[in-house]
This record gives sequence, C-alpha cells and structure tokens, in this order.
Amino acid sequence: MDSSLPLVLDRSGAGPLHLQLAEQFRAAIRDGRLQAGHRLPSTRELARDLVVSRSVAQAAYDQLHAEGWIEGRTGAGTYVADVVPLQPVERRRTKSAPAAREKLLSLRAGIPFIGGSADAGWRRAWREVSAQLPPPGYEDPTGLPALREAVAAHVGRVRGIACGAENVLITNGTIHGLRLVLSVRHRPGERIAIEDPGYVNAVVAARDQRLEVVDIGVDEDGLLVRELGDDLAAAYVTPSHQYPLGGRLPVARRNELIRWARRTGATLIEDDYDSEFRYDVAPLPALAQLDLDRVVHLGTLSKILSPALRLGWLVASTEVVDALAAYRENSGDWPAWPMQAAFLAMLRDGYLDQVIRRNRRLYADRRNLTCSVLAPYGRVVGQDAGLHITLLLPDSLDDLEVAARARAAGVVVAPLSEYRRSRPGPPGLVIGYARPTDEALQRALALLAGILGG
Ligand SMILES: Cc1ncc(COP(=O)(O)O)c(C=O)c1O
Repeated sequence: MDSSLPLVLDRSGAGPLHLQLAEQFRAAIRDGRLQAGHRLPSTRELARDLVVSRSVAQAAYDQLHAEGWIEGRTGAGTYVADVVPLQPVERRRTKSAPAAREKLLSLRAGIPFIGGSADAGWRRAWREVSAQLPPPGYEDPTGLPALREAVAAHVGRVRGIACGAENVLITNGTIHGLRLVLSVRHRPGERIAIEDPGYVNAVVAARDQRLEVVDIGVDEDGLLVRELGDDLAAAYVTPSHQYPLGGRLPVARRNELIRWARRTGATLIEDDYDSEFRYDVAPLPALAQLDLDRVVHLGTLSKILSPALRLGWLVASTEVVDALAAYRENSGDWPAWPMQAAFLAMLRDGYLDQVIRRNRRLYADRRNLTCSVLAPYGRVVGQDAGLHITLLLPDSLDDLEVAARARAAGVVVAPLSEYRRSRPGPPGLVIGYARPTDEALQRALALLAGILGG
C-alpha cells in the first residue's frame, strides 16, 4: 500500500467506515496525491493495514468504482482511473406540501367519494387478479380483448352506443385518449374547437400537439354549435355535462353537431367524463350513439371510482381504433395489465354498476344540500348531472378574490374565471360536492356561505 497516504478511520460514530474510506480516497485523487494509473492495494492488504473487515474495504472500492474514481483490471489489481469524474450534483430533498394543506376542506370539482374502507367488491376484484400470473408478453396494445368486449357491452347498455370490442381501446383516462387521438389523427397547425369556458387539460393537450385552439362560446345548455366554422379539423366537447357550466346539450344541438361533423369531415371528440351521474332528468343520446363514424367517445373510471386508477376507454369507428392501435404498437404506452384485469373483474361481477348506483344516491343528496345552501348567494347552474355545480355570482364580485378568501377560511373552490379564455362571462365558483363526507361538506358550505354573505 502507498505509505504516503495516511488513512485514518474514526470509529467513534463518525459514519460508516466504508464511506469514510471512500471519501479519503476521493480527496486524495482530487488533490493529486493519487495520480491516474496509480495501483491501489488489494482489499485484503487494505483491510489488514487498517484493521477493518475485508467487506469494509470492498464496499469502499465498490462505491469508488461506481462513481468512476477507480478501475479494476481483471487479475491485475485496482488503479486510479484516468478521468477525473464529474462531481455528482447534490440533490436536496424538498419537503412535501405543508401539513396545513391537509386541513383544508376541498370542494375542487370532479373528485369522487371514496369510503372509509375498501368494500367487498373492490377486494374481490383484486383477489381475482392476484390469483393470476401476468401474461408473458406485451399483450394487445389496444387493451385486453375480454376487457374491450366487456366495455363495449357496458357502453352499449348504459350509453346506447352500438359497438363491439373492435371499436374499443383501453386508455389511461380521458386525457390520455385525447392526446392519442390528437397526435395520430391531426397535424400541427390544424384548428380545434374547444368550449370556452372549458377543460384546461384539453386545451393544454391540443397546444402540446401544436394545434390552434379556437374558443367556442357556451351557454347554459352547452356548446354554441352555430359558432363552429367549416375550417376546423376537430372539436372537443362535453355534451353530457358541460365542463364547467354543467349544461346538457339538447338533442337538436347534438344533431346539429353531427351534421356539422359530417359536412366538414372534422373529428368530433365527445368527453363523456361524468355521464354516469344524472339526477331527476332523462338521459340524452351520446354523440357516439348518433354517429360512431364521426365521433371519438372518451369514458373514464376517474369519476366512478378514482382518478388515481388512471383508466378509461375510447370508443370509435374501427378505422380510427385500428390507426390508434398501429401507433400504439411501438409506443409501449398502454395501461398496465393488473389495472385492466381488475377493471374486467369489476365489470363482470357487477361491482362497477353497484358503485354507480350507490354514489348516484349519495351525490343526489349532496347536490341538494349544496344547491340549497348556496342558492341565496347567486345562481346555481349545472345541477342536473355530474359531481359539481357552478354558482354564478353577481358581476360586482371578483371570483378570484372570493376563492382566495374561501381558502383563507379553509375551503378550496375553483373560481370560474380559471376556466375562461377569451369569452367574457359572469364570475362564479365551480364547486365539487362528491368528495367530502356529508359532515365535511356541511362545514365547507357553511364557511363558504359565511364568506359570500359577509
Ligand atoms: C372535463 C373533464 N374530462 C375528463 C376528466 C377526467 O380526466 P381523466 O380521465 O384523464 O382523469 C375530468 C376530470 O376532472 C374533467 O373535468
């Protein structure tokens, strides 16, 4: 061993010995005491010299090897490497969100209720998955064939869309499906109509694809179809519950929309994100029911079970599904097998229908409570369906300021102006009522009423 290198180990708790040793070698290489090509002692010699176990010496060398300071020549010893390795960037671990955030009552739109404990149907599905081995290969990039079949039956039953497995592609949720359609079917520079006010993530998806977003106005029934020009390549719409104003697009406008798409050849993208929840009103036909050749229909588990599952479905003509599948083949970008298998189990044993039925009752009550508490402070819209209502406020109020005051009082709500782009309209609050417990909802609404009335 090089006697000019004094190695001193502090055994009084100054840290693991192998790290101390590695650092002393690093320092010696850094300041030139050990030069490139210099032969280092074997781990056996080093251990003997320093009176440490050989595993300590080995661990120090392993670390230095991994960082590039030294290199081993098989059978010929260990040498100082010829390159001065880059110093690794020191990573500071940032603290996660402040604990105070957890105390806030969240009335953010679109988050479903998750009960206090896992129910039997949920556990059954995962037991079924855990009893299986994963498939050996990459599986079908469009989704598990049996799941596509089951989803086709599901949307046929609940949305009246006549389709088969060949029309279905399993996605990681609405936005995943939307991004896929936009990237495969559309070219940068094309124009896409998006509701204004509308879903911010859809706008971001279109802009990421370098499409030109054309803002189309909305009234309390939904999209103003008459505003759609003939030069558009696509339109993204939320006809079952306009996001965020909550309008349900009347049949006449749906027909008009289909006629527009047939005439122009544009892709009509139907975001059916919360259509499972509808209160005291008759169902309206899905756009995909009216013409699957012109419509790409997007469904999601995000509102039925949880957005954390990242699972949804896309229903379209076989021509569109085949094109998306061909793209996916080489992308590696499709939902993981366990989630798909669990979803299949939930569909087959009726668990999904059971959750929808149960939550429909729960949400109807929460919606009633929300409307009755907030009605004195503005005009409630969008209450016939979904997981949120919008409270339109008097023009004299600034909704950003109201939302900031609500937050300071402990309640998170979204100001309507966050959803607006170029179309002016009244201020408002977008209020999700599904997620909190009844008791938390009551508290949050009381706080909000205090702010609006104060
Ligand atoms: C309009 C709209 N579409 C879709 C979704 C759900 O998106 P995903 O399925 O990607 O979770 C949401 C969730 O907030 C939404 O507001």
